[in-house]
Amino acid sequence: DKEGHRHFMAKEIHEQPEVIAHTISRYVDPAEMTVRLPKGAFDFKKLDRLTISACGTAYYAGLVSKYWFEKWARLPIEIDVASELRYRDVPWTKNGGALFISQSGETADTLAALREACANGQQIAAVVNVAESSIAREADVIFPMTAGPEIGVASTKAFTCQLVSLACIAIAAGRERGTLSAEEEKELVGGLLEIPRLVAEALKQSDKIEAIARDIAKATGVFYIGRGVSYPMALEGALKLKEISYIHAEGYAAGELKHGPIALIDENLPIAVIAPMDAHFEKTVSNMQEVMARDGKALLISCKDGIAAAGARAWASIETPKTHPMLAPVVYAVPVQLLAYFTATTKGTDVDQPRNLAKSVTVE
Ligand code: F6R
Repeated sequence: DKEGHRHFMAKEIHEQPEVIAHTISRYVDPAEMTVRLPKGAFDFKKLDRLTISACGTAYYAGLVSKYWFEKWARLPIEIDVASELRYRDVPWTKNGGALFISQSGETADTLAALREACANGQQIAAVVNVAESSIAREADVIFPMTAGPEIGVASTKAFTCQLVSLACIAIAAGRERGTLSAEEEKELVGGLLEIPRLVAEALKQSDKIEAIARDIAKATGVFYIGRGVSYPMALEGALKLKEISYIHAEGYAAGELKHGPIALIDENLPIAVIAPMDAHFEKTVSNMQEVMARDGKALLISCKDGIAAAGARAWASIETPKTHPMLAPVVYAVPVQLLAYFTATTKGTDVDQPRNLAKSVTVE
């Protein structure tokens, strides 16, 4: 049942305020403004390294969390796609933990990487949506992301629920390792509790994004750039666009543009700039200006102040609510998803069942 939406993907994008709030409620104590984890979770004090692995969109959620674990918990992170990690000769550490992220819990490569980590004495945790899945069964501890069933092949609400689960785990890790003060934990929990409302606000930009997507649909290629936590969002934006609209798209760390990709910039290659007003804003904007100086069409995705400061000469902009700077990915997921969605509906592709793709990839 699409509940009045044209596609499951649209329904699932719009469900996000609700399912994100639900996932947060599994982890947050709003009275104490603290995070709590399920029993038997990692002994974060003892961990000497955390290995994170997943595939596709779930991998990009993991990549965002790398920034969180490093900043809040000062925890060394190893991260790779599962199809590589499982075949690498990883020098596993003695007190290592391994965290796997999977909506379906059945992804063959992720399961194989989990077994490899387990065979090498790592403590195993999984962020999963399907509680009775293979990955959930084989993990020592499960961190739930209660997104509800996801039908659209392109992952949307599962991604944002993965993100908030991972944020809670990283906050708890920081507290247990003594690297995050009670004050900082409160501030982050406050930021998390605001997210459902901010996501609902971001959804109100639908009509504006649909209009922009009509132009994007004519492009032969699109670049996405971002820095810090917005770098994985650039990767996710490009994946979402290519998988449902079949337009070639690439995501880059903003600082990498000048090391090659900028050669491709011209008026036919729009570039989406994911630039929340965080510590990297100025740097990312200067990369955007380099693009515009080469006749590139820049689409600035930022908050009201960010657009006021830097959007004047951009080709277009999408306003996104201001968030806690480290938590911006959860809210910026919305414009990224809607841009892909409306580009696909403009082109008339099969949004819920894109060609060549399966919802659950149970072969390697
Ligand atoms: C992209 C997408 C895929 C999945 C990937 C992992 O929109 O849905 O990239 O994220 O196949 O799937 P799970 O999370 O089920 O392991």
